[in-house]
Amino acid sequence: MPDHQDPKQIQVQWDAAQYLRFGGERLRPALDLMVHLPAQTPARILDLGCGAGNLTALLQQRWPEADVLGVDGSEDMLAKARANLPRGRFIAADLNRWTPEHKLDLIYTNATLQWLPDHEQLFPRLLSFLNPGGCLAVQMPIMHDAPLRLAQVELARSPAYAGVLGEVSERRNVLDMGAYYDLLRPRVTALDIWQTTYLHILKGADPVLEWASGSSLRPYLEKMEGEQLRNFRADYARRMQLAYPPRTDGSTLLPFQRMFILARLAE
Ligand SMILES: C[S@@+](CC[C@H](N)C(=O)[O-])C[C@H]1O[C@@H](n2cnc3c(N)ncnc32)[C@H](O)[C@@H]1O
Repeated sequence: MPDHQDPKQIQVQWDAAQYLRFGGERLRPALDLMVHLPAQTPARILDLGCGAGNLTALLQQRWPEADVLGVDGSEDMLAKARANLPRGRFIAADLNRWTPEHKLDLIYTNATLQWLPDHEQLFPRLLSFLNPGGCLAVQMPIMHDAPLRLAQVELARSPAYAGVLGEVSERRNVLDMGAYYDLLRPRVTALDIWQTTYLHILKGADPVLEWASGSSLRPYLEKMEGEQLRNFRADYARRMQLAYPPRTDGSTLLPFQRMFILARLAE
């Protein structure tokens, strides 16, 4: 498999500007994962699903001597990444198929693996990319049972939208913590798994709609246009107002659960 794929065949559509509207809130778990990385000095680092490259830049800053590579399937995200880190190395590829040219010492992957299926196969595959002593560091949202995600699935199945959204995957890709333990424990020497619920305090009108429009709602929105799109956004916004009603100061509280995994191979 070549290191670089034709971007037209990758087709990961992502709106970097919409995603980065909540950049502060989205940065915090990424940093929480970063502070738990092992103390070793990795020579080769992969930022898998690097998005706009802001975390790739932090990894490079922390280990200036390391060879840091960012891989993502969205040209919009990669354009931002190349602007963020002009001397960085970025590759456009479908993460379901891409394999690195060289073995790695650290795979850092923030808010990305929840988009990829078959974690029972995916995680061992990622471990196989590592050198002895190498580390896989993962952060993934676990929101599939939260109103934010349930409303997307329910609306997509409703008569008004099923015709156009019926095929969109529910993407319940993330397993429970015990399943990752069983999967990874026999393969690694050190394993740390934990979950955190962040309480995001959002401002403005319909902030949950705006939040989701930059991530989980995107596969639905991109299938519609015109009046149907406007109606869907309004229906989703109404459900979000009920599920996450504004507080007396006008803020909206969005509890957001995330899973962290650090898995290190034996030397
Ligand atoms: C939520 S963003 C996270 C970006 C970055 N890691 C961050 O935390 O800011 C998820 C990223 O995964 C990428 N992505 C999702 N599925 C992909 C796939 N199959 N192949 C390549 N990239 C993919 C998207 O393009 C997007 O940039």
